[in-house]
Amino acid sequence: MCGIVGYIGNSQAKDVVIKGLKRLEYRGYDSAGIALINGSLSIKKCKGKVSALEKLLSDSEKGSIAIGHTRWATHGEPNDVNSHPHVSSSGKIAVVHNGIIENYNALKLKLQEEGYKFYSETDTEIVAKLIESFIDKNPSIEFVKAVKLALAQINGTYGLAILNSDNPETIFVARKGSPLLIGVGEGEMLIASDASAVAEYTDKVVYLDDGELAIIKKDEYQVINADDVELTKEVHELAMSLEEIEKSGFPFFMLKEIFEQPKTISDSLRGRINVEDGSITLGGITSVMDKLVNAKRIIIAACGTSWHSALVGEYLIEWLAKTPVEVEYASEFRYKDPLIGEGDVLFVISQSGETADTLAALREAKEKGATVLGIVNVVGSTIARETDAGVYLHAGPEIGVASTKAFTGQVTVLALIALSLAQHKGAIDKKSSKKIISALSKIPSQVEEILKQSDQIKEISNLFTYAPNFLYLGRSYSFPVALEGALKLKEISYIHAEGYPAAEMKHGPIALIDDMMPVVVIASTKHTNDKMVSNVEEVKARKGRIIAITSPSNEEVRDLAEFSCMIPETEDVLSPLLSVIPLQLLSYYVAVNRGCDVDQPRNLAKSVTVE
Ligand code: F6R
Repeated sequence: MCGIVGYIGNSQAKDVVIKGLKRLEYRGYDSAGIALINGSLSIKKCKGKVSALEKLLSDSEKGSIAIGHTRWATHGEPNDVNSHPHVSSSGKIAVVHNGIIENYNALKLKLQEEGYKFYSETDTEIVAKLIESFIDKNPSIEFVKAVKLALAQINGTYGLAILNSDNPETIFVARKGSPLLIGVGEGEMLIASDASAVAEYTDKVVYLDDGELAIIKKDEYQVINADDVELTKEVHELAMSLEEIEKSGFPFFMLKEIFEQPKTISDSLRGRINVEDGSITLGGITSVMDKLVNAKRIIIAACGTSWHSALVGEYLIEWLAKTPVEVEYASEFRYKDPLIGEGDVLFVISQSGETADTLAALREAKEKGATVLGIVNVVGSTIARETDAGVYLHAGPEIGVASTKAFTGQVTVLALIALSLAQHKGAIDKKSSKKIISALSKIPSQVEEILKQSDQIKEISNLFTYAPNFLYLGRSYSFPVALEGALKLKEISYIHAEGYPAAEMKHGPIALIDDMMPVVVIASTKHTNDKMVSNVEEVKARKGRIIAITSPSNEEVRDLAEFSCMIPETEDVLSPLLSVIPLQLLSYYVAVNRGCDVDQPRNLAKSVTVE
């Protein structure tokens, strides 16, 4: 979704900001813009890519202070006028904004009555004009005071960066519900909505919390809270290398991230399992293990791919630890007035740690007294900071909009949590526990083996590039994988795809099957093998084109399928970690064949920070 970058220091601010905006392209956007101060305020903005914005900038646009924005339209279509920054009537104040101002209509009407003219359809434009209205009423007012008065009238969410040509050495930023951080450099400061935009310049960051306002100069910054109290904020060290946020020779981030999985799964396991004695160490949740052990049920809330890993988590926790689990769409959780309270444990799963619906579910459960735990990738993200405890994935930055390595990281962490809980509850014997841990330790090299089949998967994808529909079928642990395979295909190739529990097919979707329908069958668990064979027969009888993901113990399915991809044998509970890999590759190659922009699919955003 929208991205914000700002710079103040001795370098050319526009170069730093443009580079930062390019780093944020992965978040998804439809237009871009920049505001610079060089004597007066200069604004350039347009619909389209950051490269189009770059072309609008001339060499004369120099200066040591700038803010920039990538916009993902919420209010008003993507066009040049609606792009940020938005300016005040005097042309002295420029604002970029992430989030949604809910009462903008009322504020706009009031300002229009006072004579202010509006040019865009956005909610953001009111911010620049509202600040200016306080200055117009009281010309001697301190600029920051006018900003505070404006913020006090705004309802909704915002990450805001503001420039004022009367304060040419300061960037003003404010946060409520939309992430913002300060990158602290030597004689220079950056601001951004996402650490990847600042990682090239500094490894020191300060995360702003809701209600905070920061006044940033090149050598210092001041953060004040809603009660006007100056705060001493912790400076975090950013563990993000440049290599992690570059394509490193791969044509797309998604492919790089698919191929990174042997390493990212190893990183998720590192220091957490001991194959010799079968023990598990999860420092992040040690303090809440008693609560987990005593919980009558566990609820997991998440969105999208993270919701699919939550479904795998349900199987893992119920099967291994024997604690009942309910999986909720985070976006629906609040609206059912959930029956949750003290004694309950809610896990939220989020790659970005910023998904607005997941954050809202977390806050709802916390308010009702539940223990709230996070399974998050981005260190220091809002969800990571607001949960009572949690486990990080350690998958490194995921830049491709389609989530891949985060899914396998989440399932790995869920397997560790389920096993650890099972051990603490005495729900699993030592021998079985050791067996699963040993199988887990082999997963990275097994993923490596599957990746070696990428040419074969590419050939299969060539045959189905123009199929209008796909069906994905799986049972038990493979059902969430079927959902995930279908989601991957639709989001990056725009082909309609559905994931179904294999036996449910008979209750409706079987009507769709004919000799044009590719049916991807995930048959990689031993305990459902026989039943899967029957389902595959049903598809074959109707001439469906079967692509099977099988393991050596499911030879019958392989023999029935037109195409197949063999994955190594593992424990059934861990099979999603392997069976999802060919599906990621299949969707990637189909999308590339169709000429789609794999890393930035249309209409999608990497981190969905609006509800
Ligand atoms: C799909 C995808 C999305 C995200 C969802 C939740 O490939 O990336 O469905 O999984 O938006 O995002 P996080 O995990 O950041 O909360």
